[in-house]
Amino acid sequence: MLENLTALPADKILALMAKYKEDPRTDKVDLGVGVYKDASGNTPVMRAVKEAERRILADQTSKAYTGLAGDPAFGTAMRELVLADSVPAERVAAVATPGGTGAIRQALELIKMAAPDATVWLSNPTWPNHPSIIKYLGMKMAEYRYFDEETRGVDFDGLMADLDGIAAGDVVLLHGCCHNPTGANLTLDQMDQVIAKLQAKGAVPLVDIAYQGFGDGLDADAVATRRIASSFDNVLIAASCSKNFGVYRERTGILMAVAKDADQKALAQQTLAYLNRQNYSFPPDHGARVVTTILTDPELRADWEAELEETRNGMLALRQQLADELKRLTNSDRFNFLADHRGMFSRLGTSPEKVEQLRAEHGIYMVGDSRMNIAGLNAKTVPILAKAIVDAGI
Ligand SMILES: Cc1ncc(COP(=O)(O)O)c(C=O)c1O
Repeated sequence: MLENLTALPADKILALMAKYKEDPRTDKVDLGVGVYKDASGNTPVMRAVKEAERRILADQTSKAYTGLAGDPAFGTAMRELVLADSVPAERVAAVATPGGTGAIRQALELIKMAAPDATVWLSNPTWPNHPSIIKYLGMKMAEYRYFDEETRGVDFDGLMADLDGIAAGDVVLLHGCCHNPTGANLTLDQMDQVIAKLQAKGAVPLVDIAYQGFGDGLDADAVATRRIASSFDNVLIAASCSKNFGVYRERTGILMAVAKDADQKALAQQTLAYLNRQNYSFPPDHGARVVTTILTDPELRADWEAELEETRNGMLALRQQLADELKRLTNSDRFNFLADHRGMFSRLGTSPEKVEQLRAEHGIYMVGDSRMNIAGLNAKTVPILAKAIVDAGI
């Protein structure tokens, strides 16, 4: 049987990580993999997470199964964090999932059940796992323009023109905030125009929000998602806790389905539980329990929010430092987009050849599409990167 398998293309990011590990240079800089790193290059366990784990370890009396949707308290806490009061709880079905990826997978499975002929529209570019899962599930897929290679901002005219091609019932995937891989985001005014377009077309939004708190702040980063949630009868929202709680390996995420009314919610809830059952039965609990503990305890929550703010402001400071350094070296404003981008990533906007040149000549590792993980920098490596960018003639 196994002889029938064909080799799959290597994951580009994992291949890059392996290359980085083998590189003997001591001044190498890893801007590849998408995890947050502090100034010393560590991905720390957040203080509130440590404390919540300590409490769970001390207090937990059973490891019996939770429900198929996970612990309902997690669902409530996450709904409030992401959606606040933008839609009544009576309209929101929710299941815990293994990470944001699990939520996206379950969202797509739900779409496949409810609207098998729908085309799923993705920004070009998007997180590579989006098209990969859609292809794997054999679903229809289309792209809308997103990134302007010149300005390194959003190609809004291209985006709106491409969305004219949506058919009624199609699904449009939107990044809730901190677009991965570009770092370029729609303004709220532009998002309102996208919402109006999707409403006019009868499309269903699927929001992927994986970086709430990494851009402009916990609430500011959720504004677009909340507006979308309150503007349609049906919206799917896949939220990840991997980054903003730093619980990557615990696999903590949630899929929320905004339904038209309570009856539709009940149907969606039952279907989501069924989908969990078919795929992995009960979702992982530890990370979800940590998140719930933090969000429902005022002291832990305040500490988590404070540490998340430090993280966010640290990334903003690195962005500003890099833009300033490049301004000084090039005597131009053409890299100001780096300070305007939000989230962990920025797309530098250069060729794969230049990306390879940065790696070979300067030991700077970024993904081939020139996505840089800003959190991979620190105050000392920013000038090294800026000089390398200029030396490479980018
Ligand atoms: C855009 C986007 N969506 C979803 C995810 C899901 O992350 P996880 O499955 O680790 O929670 C990621 C992680 O890199 C992401 O960048």
